[in-house]
Amino acid sequence: MMGSVSHNFHFHDLQPAQDDFHTDVIAGLSGKTKYLSPKFFYDEQGSQLFDAITRLPEYYPTRTEIGLLQRYGEDMARLLGDDGILVELGSGSDTKIRVLLEAIQPQTYAPVDICREYLRMAAGAIAEDHPRLEVHAICTDFTKPFALPDLLDARQRAAFFPGSSIGNFDPAQARELLRSIARLLGPAGRLLIGVDLKKSPELLHAAYNDDQGVTAKFNLNLLERINRELDADFDIDAFRHEAFYNEKLGRVEMHLVATAPQRVRVNGCRFEFQPGESIHTENSYKFSIEEFQVLAAQSGLASVQVWQDDDALFSVHCLRPV
Ligand code: AVI
Repeated sequence: MMGSVSHNFHFHDLQPAQDDFHTDVIAGLSGKTKYLSPKFFYDEQGSQLFDAITRLPEYYPTRTEIGLLQRYGEDMARLLGDDGILVELGSGSDTKIRVLLEAIQPQTYAPVDICREYLRMAAGAIAEDHPRLEVHAICTDFTKPFALPDLLDARQRAAFFPGSSIGNFDPAQARELLRSIARLLGPAGRLLIGVDLKKSPELLHAAYNDDQGVTAKFNLNLLERINRELDADFDIDAFRHEAFYNEKLGRVEMHLVATAPQRVRVNGCRFEFQPGESIHTENSYKFSIEEFQVLAAQSGLASVQVWQDDDALFSVHCLRPV
């Protein structure tokens, strides 16, 4: 289960259960309101599409967070500490960690991601470019509690959870995840986490309805993935992407809306769609600084420092277990 490309690269495949995809899809499509978890967006194709989203002019979070890492990297590094383990949750694209690694010198970098191929490629490239850094890539579903491989035990730990991925969890799930990160870190650990801020609904709308239609492709790829992997026959052309800011709940919602009546078969199970019926595919919660600090405190994490850009679009928080 462990292989290496360059001498400092190690791959730990904790084999995230494939069954979850099948079980969750059937359960999500069987309810009165249909729902699919956004964690299933990220197969190889979905990860590439998400990468393209992060480069879109309308999608401000990525470049703004990178700007914060560039501007305040030294301060962040001082708070996280050198020579320990830096765990990155949901590593995806490697741009942000590369910026952070210019400021911080951990002994070990441990990216954690569910997408095996993407993780292997991105983490392998980091290992090659940083020959003195031990890179231990861990393929698992970090939304479920997991342990770091034994050989990474008992060192100073810091975690990096960028991209406001925390916003893709409902508040109760977010608290549970933050609590499990706090446990993983131990009492002396630090968490550096990117959090998207509340802002004008127009800006949010544009960020999730880009002109080139990349976000629409990303959303629709979920149905293509179900067709590819679960022997299903969704007519993709009969669904459209919908994204809007739900101000009351403080979240952007993404849906796939049926444009025509449709009968779909997924691994032998049949599902019917009426025109206008939606599959809810993602929530992306937005926070004020104080709202996020309250959520963190409810999860056993206290604020050490917070940075935001001049336009108050995005924030990065440093937190410590209490
Ligand atoms: C990964 N996550 C934080 C992104 C977001 O903004 O919620 C996923 C995304 N969905 C549509 N565009 C980007």
